[in-house]
Formats: sequence, structure tokens, C-alpha cells
Amino acid sequence: MSVNLVGKHFLKLLDYTPEEITYLIDLAADLKDKKKKGILVDQLRGKNIALIFEKTSTRTRCAFEVAAHDLGMGTTYLDPTGSQIGKKESIADTARILGGMFEGIEYRGFEQTIVDELAKYAGVPVWNGLTNEFHPTQMLADLLTIREKLGSLKGKKLTYMGDARYNMGNSWMVTCAKMGMHFTACAPKAYFPNAELVAECDAIAAQTGATITLTEDVMAGTKAADVIYTDVWVSMGEPDEVWATRIKELLPYQVNSKVMKNAAESAIFMHCLPAFHDLKTKIGKEVYEKFGLAELEVTDEVFESAQSVVFEEGENRMHTIKAVMAATLGYK
Ligand code: CP
Ligand code: NVA
Repeated sequence: MSVNLVGKHFLKLLDYTPEEITYLIDLAADLKDKKKKGILVDQLRGKNIALIFEKTSTRTRCAFEVAAHDLGMGTTYLDPTGSQIGKKESIADTARILGGMFEGIEYRGFEQTIVDELAKYAGVPVWNGLTNEFHPTQMLADLLTIREKLGSLKGKKLTYMGDARYNMGNSWMVTCAKMGMHFTACAPKAYFPNAELVAECDAIAAQTGATITLTEDVMAGTKAADVIYTDVWVSMGEPDEVWATRIKELLPYQVNSKVMKNAAESAIFMHCLPAFHDLKTKIGKEVYEKFGLAELEVTDEVFESAQSVVFEEGENRMHTIKAVMAATLGYK
């Protein structure tokens, strides 16, 4: 069956079939190949997209802008403070205004219900650039990276360490269920994804051959894993006060050389980034001064090791976001 995603929103991978996800990764690989060869893909000339960022970003914003320009499109960036959104103008009104001027809208911000509301009223494709609950464009980049590095997706074991109940942990559980991969959340119980989403993913997994495991045991959870994945312990929008508890509860789930040695010999380390692995950031330094820890969710040794694919993963954000826009806006 041929896949047609023209006009479809990209809000979370739960809305996409495994075939559609594979189609997007294949398209991204093709667009990446064309980019490397210098082949222009500017077929979407004349179109414009709006980029709403209620939270900060390096990768996602740059990926959307570069990808849009490569496709021939214009971009308008609305920063976390510079628009009326949510303060003087409702999401529904904003959606109808932007939908009248732009062919597509990216949204990064808080609750998933906000991006759902934008999609309901915009009349043009809306793409989720990260919410509290999900980060679906990150998933496509990561799947492309895993395929490039390990050759295939089905049957691969991915262990997610740390805060598994937020956007990245949720997204990985959904993605593994869809793609027939083995997902393990390795975290204290309080950081497991919520039971309702686990049940939904279990039902999908039963169809695809995936498995979902939740464990507090680091050695059992990381044993023979093909991919060790982690993310920051305090996400954007969360208060600084939670650092003390997070460090206390999540430090045992830090990705270090012991974890990597316990994983498969060919295992790769992944992180959506930004990462706290040294003292070269403002927050990293503040945490060090307060808690005496120089490395947080991942040690510098692992981050800089040959097993770490984080920078290729970062580049793939652009190719995969390009694929999402191309597919939903009718690139041929
Ligand atoms: N991984 C990711 O979304 O990075 P940014 O916050 O820099 O966009
Ligand atoms: N969990 C992180 C992901 C950043 C890409 C956050 O929401 O801040």
C-alpha cells in the first residue's frame, strides 16, 4: 500500500503506522543523500512556515529553518516571548491567523493539548517540535541514526535510563512498540511512564513483536542492550528546586562505562541533547557548585567515546524534519 501523508499533522508517533514511520525514515535517508551530493530539493518554493517556540532550542529550530530553506520555503520564527500566543490571544485564534498566512506550523511548548488545539484550528499541517509529553521529530532522527549504525530496527533492544516519564521516555516507549523494538525503561518506579500509556504501548507491541519492560535494576535493564539512551534529569519548564531530588534519585541511573560494558559489545550511546557531561555550561557549573557533581546523566568518558553517536544523531534532526515537511506538504 502506498503511503500518502499530504495534509497530515505530525503530533505524536501514536498517530502513525509503522509503514508511515518507515516511509518518513526512507524519505529522510534519500533527502540526506541528495544533500550530500548537492542535489537541490527546493520544490516547495513559494510556501512559508511558522515556527512557534515557547521553549528554547538549538537543534530543532535550526533543523526546521535549514530544512525549510533547502526545500525552498520561507520561515518566520516566533520566540518564547515575542508573540501574543497564550497571553493575549488564544491558541485557536492564533491557529486560524497563522493558518491563513503559512502552509505549515511548527510548535514547541508545554502540554500536548496545546499542539492538538493548534492542529484542530490551523487548517494546515502542524508539526510537534516538543511538548511535555512527546518529542516525535527527535524519534525519526534517532531511528534513522540507529538504522545507519546498526543496520535495522526490528528486534533491537533500546534501554532508556533516567527520567522515563517525560517527553523522551514516553516517545521511546511508543516508538519501540510501533517499530517492533524491545524497550526497557531503567529508572526508579516514580520515573516509569504512566500506566495508561504503558497499556496502550503493550497493546501495540502485541501486534509488532515489540516488548515493554520497566525495571529499577540497572544491570538487568542494560544487559546486552543495542542502544543505551538518556536525557537530562530536569526538563525545560521544570523548576530548579527539583534538582536536589532528581540527582539523589537518578544518579544510580547515570550512563557510565560500567553501563556501556554491560550492554552489547556493538552498543551505541544516544542522547537527544543538550547533555550535562562536563563543566562547560552555566547550569552544569551551578549544579557542580551546589551538589559537587561534574557529570550528570552521562559521564564525559561515555559522551566522548567511540560508542557515542550523538552528533550524527543531531545532524539527522535536519534530514528527518525535512522529510516530515516534505511528506506533509506534498514534495514529489
Ligand atoms: N534535542 C533537541 O530537541 O534539542 P533542542 O532543544 O536544541 O532543539
Ligand atoms: N526532556 C528534555 C528534552 C530536550 C530535547 C526537555 O524537555 O527539556
